[in-house]
Amino acid sequence: MQNLLSRLNISAVNHGTSTGLKSWSVEGATLLESHSPVDGKLIAKVSVTTHDDYQQVMDLATEAFKTWRNVPAPRRGEIVRQMGEAFRHNKEALGQLVSYEMGKSLQEGLGEVQEIIDICDFAVGLSRQLYGLTMHSERPEHRMYEQYHPLGVVGIISAFNFPVAVWSWNAMIAWVCGDVCVWKPSEKTPLTALACQNIIQDVLQKNEISEGISCLISGDYQVGEWLTSDKRIPLISATGSTRMGKIVGATVASRMGRSLLELGGNNAIIITENADLNIAIPAVVFGAVGTAGQRCTSTRRLIIHESIYETVKERLVKAYGQLRIGNPLDETNHVGPLIDHKAVIAYVSAAHEVKEEGGKMLVEEEILAGKGFESGCYVKPCIGEVEPNFKIVKHETFAPILYMMKYKTVEEAIKIQNNVPQGLSSSIFTLNMREAEQFLSVNGSDCGIANVNIGTSGAEIGGAFGGEKETGGGRESGSDAWKAYMRRQTNTINYGKQLPLAQGIKFDF
Ligand code: UN1
Repeated sequence: MQNLLSRLNISAVNHGTSTGLKSWSVEGATLLESHSPVDGKLIAKVSVTTHDDYQQVMDLATEAFKTWRNVPAPRRGEIVRQMGEAFRHNKEALGQLVSYEMGKSLQEGLGEVQEIIDICDFAVGLSRQLYGLTMHSERPEHRMYEQYHPLGVVGIISAFNFPVAVWSWNAMIAWVCGDVCVWKPSEKTPLTALACQNIIQDVLQKNEISEGISCLISGDYQVGEWLTSDKRIPLISATGSTRMGKIVGATVASRMGRSLLELGGNNAIIITENADLNIAIPAVVFGAVGTAGQRCTSTRRLIIHESIYETVKERLVKAYGQLRIGNPLDETNHVGPLIDHKAVIAYVSAAHEVKEEGGKMLVEEEILAGKGFESGCYVKPCIGEVEPNFKIVKHETFAPILYMMKYKTVEEAIKIQNNVPQGLSSSIFTLNMREAEQFLSVNGSDCGIANVNIGTSGAEIGGAFGGEKETGGGRESGSDAWKAYMRRQTNTINYGKQLPLAQGIKFDF
């Protein structure tokens, strides 16, 4: 582990506050401890950002924006390209640290770094495609068009479950758009954030990029509040719980800032009687137990046609029996630990609630103990048989708990799928074209992501990522999500000798 940490320039005690090139001293600072859920060990400590440090960071970020916004967008893309290269070189080490600090499987840790590399590539191309439209003016000898200008300082608040990829979706796009970033990672995963900041140092230095385009601040929600209430920050992009998002959204809105919220999901898969179960079953298992059920896109609800309910149940229970739970760095394991003991408690109480509301656990919940499970964070993925309207089923529990329920008609299945407060990801397994199209139609899924014959998790970076209702409405990553990071300006130019007014208004004097 020491070797891995030194490859990523992480020491026993670290600067938790930095701008691209400058780090703040940690002497006398309050320290945040990062413990691995894998083995419960203390990995390293990180200094918490003080209010004074924060002010200095914001001064540097604001200053850096003045130069960065004038760097041509394709040139900004070139910097991001070099960052992508730096992540390629560090993929193995960073992937391992993600896995060790957060607890997801090594493959998923590496997958997260791959998402960083992919979004860098996407952003490089985008840097030459920040297009606005041109319009035909209703007035003679007038030209009308729109252009996108950089916005300013973007505040990024990220969650523990995707400690690096979600930052990169925001930062890489923001950078090609000409913005500068201040990042507050989850206090549960401060080291992976430091590692990212360290990885891009060389690129910034070599290219003599103004200090402050990439700023890192560390701490809990209080540090986050400095960001959300700061009038100098036009956009806050926040990923986390709905509870957190409601507070962030209200604070940012009260100062007329923009927020891009990516909050909870309560994602369902509908399995119709026309499904190919050979692809449906593995999709459900990966969606429900991958990342130990701690993705926003994890599969939490399974809505199954009554005619195949028993078959699906049997196959799932069998598959769950074959899951290997243990150290996520051991590639033979499927499921790693939950992030901390609080998450374990939430897992247990959700399973209890299923029973209290009259449901039944088909695969019982269990906290694993003994050799290899000393951290106390390992739990057995479980399955509950429920009614769609149970209170617990409408609530997002960030753990590997899958709720199974029956339906009779596809209309009823869609109604059940939509009848939760969240609206992130959804999917249907069917080989019937009518069912699939109905699910994707205006009367179908109300989620930001709706899939056919693939599961709810594992979205590609090329699409816009996000969801409706209590998921927050924001869109990050691909497609035209970049527009949230720029300000649109409509320009009308009169190259004639008259001053015709719009709407045919005459104003003679
Ligand atoms: C999240 O859980 O916050 O679709 C993001 C997925 C990943 C991203 C999840 N690409 O599962």
